[in-house]
Formats: sequence, C-alpha cells, structure tokens
Amino acid sequence: MAKAVTFASVLQNPIYKDRDVLYALVPQTGLLHRTEQKNELVMELAPILMNSAVSCVFVYGNPGTGKTAVITELLAELTAEAKKRKVNLKQAYVNCSENRTETTIIVDILSQIDPSKSYPRVGWTRSKAVSEFTRVTNELNTNIIAVLDEVDYALKESGDDIIYRLSRINEKAGSKVSTILISNDVRVGDYIKPKTHSTLGRVRVIFAPYTSEELNDILKDRARYAFNPDVVSDQVLQKIAEIESSRGGDARKALELLDSCAKAAISKGGRKVTLDLVDEADRSLEKDTIFNIVGTLTKHQKLLYLGMVQSNKSDLDGGRVYSMYVEACQKQNVQPLSIRRIRTFLVNFSELGLIKSEVTWLRSLRKKSRTITLELDSATRKKLRKVIRDSI
Ligand SMILES: Nc1ncnc2c1ncn2[C@@H]1O[C@H](COP(=O)(O)OP(=O)(O)OP(=O)(O)O)[C@@H](O)[C@H]1O
Ligand SMILES: [Mg+2]
Repeated sequence: MAKAVTFASVLQNPIYKDRDVLYALVPQTGLLHRTEQKNELVMELAPILMNSAVSCVFVYGNPGTGKTAVITELLAELTAEAKKRKVNLKQAYVNCSENRTETTIIVDILSQIDPSKSYPRVGWTRSKAVSEFTRVTNELNTNIIAVLDEVDYALKESGDDIIYRLSRINEKAGSKVSTILISNDVRVGDYIKPKTHSTLGRVRVIFAPYTSEELNDILKDRARYAFNPDVVSDQVLQKIAEIESSRGGDARKALELLDSCAKAAISKGGRKVTLDLVDEADRSLEKDTIFNIVGTLTKHQKLLYLGMVQSNKSDLDGGRVYSMYVEACQKQNVQPLSIRRIRTFLVNFSELGLIKSEVTWLRSLRKKSRTITLELDSATRKKLRKVIRDSI
C-alpha cells in the first residue's frame, strides 16, 4: 500500500540539504571541465579591457553543455577586472528565445546599459528603438558587451538585421560594442545573409557534449552541497552520468534526473537514494504532469502561461496577467488576443490545475478582481520557462 506523504514530511526529509544548489546556473564551487572554452573566450575578450571592441564571437553547442553558465561566469569576471582597472564597461545579456524581434532585443539592451532611464516594455517601433540605440551608444562613450543567447530563435523569427546592426555600430558610435552570439543550432549560419557574414569575426567556440566522466564530476560536486551526507552513493551518480552521456551529454538533464531520484526516495519514505530508484525516476520525469499539460497548450495559451511564470510572484491580479501576456506576445512578434479570450484561457488553466484562481472584492475600490495563484517552486518555474520558450 502507498504511504501517505504530507507537506511536513516532505519538508523534513532526511535527503536534501539545499535543493536549489542543483539548479544554480553558476554553482558556488564554480564550473567544471570548461577550461579550454573559457581560455579561448578570455583570449578573445581581453582586448575589451584595453578599450578595443571585439568582433562577434560565436558560441555553439548542444543543449545543456554549459554555454549560458560559462558566459555568465565569464561576464562577471570581465566586469570585476574592468572595475579593478577602471575601464568603463557595461554589459547586456539578452535571451533571444524570449525576445525575438530586433526592437525588443534593442530595448532590452538599452534598459541594461542605461538603467537610469526607464524604457517602456511594450509599444516602441523599430525605428524609434534604433535611433535611441544610436543616440545612447554615442552618448555613453563606454565599452559595451552584448550577449545574445539562444540567438537562433531571433534569426528564424526576424532575420539577421540585429546582428548586422550590432556589427556595424562601431563605425559611428562613441561607444565600443562587442558581441557574443550563443546558439545550440549549428546551422545558425544558414540564417545569416552573406552581407552580414562578412562583417562577423571568424571566432567560433564549440561546447561538445559532456562525457560520462565529466557529468559524473559535475553531479558529484553539486550532490555534496545539495544532499545530506551519505544519502547519494557514487554508484547512483555514475549511473545517471552514463544514462545522460549516452543521450547527448546534457548536464541540465543529468541534474534533473538526480533531483527526480531524490524525490522518488522521499515519496517512498526512504533515507537514501538507491540505485534501483534511477530507472523509476527516469520514467517518472517523462510523466511529469505539469510539463505534459503545458505541451498540449495552444501558442497563445503558452504565451499567457509564460508571462505568468516569468514573474517570480506567486499571487497575481487579473489585469497584470493580461499586460504580462501582451508583453510576452510583443517579444515573440505575435499579435495578442483580446482580454475576453484571455479570461476564458484562465478558466481553462484553473480547470487543468495550472493555476488557482479566485474572485475577490477589493473593498476600497468596490469592484471585483481576480487573484491568480501559481504554486510552483523556483526550480519548476525555471524549467517551465525553458520548456515553454523552446516549444513556442
Ligand atoms: N561545466 C559545468 N559545471 C557545472 N555545472 C554545469 C556545467 N555545465 C553545465 N552545468 C549546469 O547545467 C545546466 C545547463 O547549463 P547551461 O544552461 O549553461 O546550458 P546551455 O548550453 O546554455 O544549454 P541551452 O542550449 O539549452 O541553453 C546549468 O544548471 C548549469 O549550471
Ligand atoms: Mg543556454
């Protein structure tokens, strides 16, 4: 017979010490096995510290091979070094699966390099964004590094104008703009016109899939801080590493499988993650209901849910949800539906168990309002964002 699980028993489990460690982009202990790629990137980016711009650097690799993590770590190191040497440097990181148009990419960069000004989240035309970008880069007179992550989404959606613009901006700007493009689609070159190709640098940094030994080290390093002592054995980590290296060497998937093993152990009331749990946990990941439900939603429903999980708040009001949806649409170059349609979707979501929705009276305003609650932990939120973005 199945044992009853209560919230209290889950929270007081003997397994996890700090589950979030499994989902940190750059763990406190640093990243492993990417020295070669980091060295190449350091060599390439060093001229920025001598006030000189770097032509586009391309970073390729399969999902989960550490591209975003390595670049994030490197940007922090570059910024620290610039500060030490009193070199002016501003950085912008844009996720292009979230921002697929030239306009929203530029507005996102602007809001990061010029934070004193508040840029509108929706509503700008492309020419307005471009002229503001030219003006600000001229005025700031600084080094700028812009990272366009998952750039293949923007290229497929709206062409390569943004790359062309960034690569040519140094000809007139007072600032020196360097660009890093990250993609997990090796055919990204096919989306770039020859005219743009000729303005790009020749540097390409490749992130190969992790081997089982590498995955094993990555898992071991996290397991030390995520779990209580002696909960996870070396054999368990090794088995996960072997499974995931045979499937494409994805560190994200390996960490998720480890988490899923721990959850399986807790639901069984165990004190250890045993070897026999690995296969079971692997199967249960495939059945994970919320991700399967999200997979069946329509494009607009996905955009609506994406807008909601992007906010870290668990309670949202109805009006705010609509504006988050409109923003998500604009970033993806999609025409939003009416507020009435969105209300119907919210009712569906609540039936599907994706949200909890409650109508309350705002006493002071004497009107009805809908409060929407998302009961999701931060790891699930992170994974949902990625899964939805990848599936739109
Ligand atoms: N070398 C590493 N050492 C430690 N952790 C790593 C390493 N590489 C990846 N990870 C972890 O694996 C997860 C996925 O890495 P990351 O997001 O950088 O992959 P990615 O290559 O950007 O994938 P995608 O193409 O899907 O965006 C992150 O949680 C990251 O911390
Ligand atoms: Mg990434």
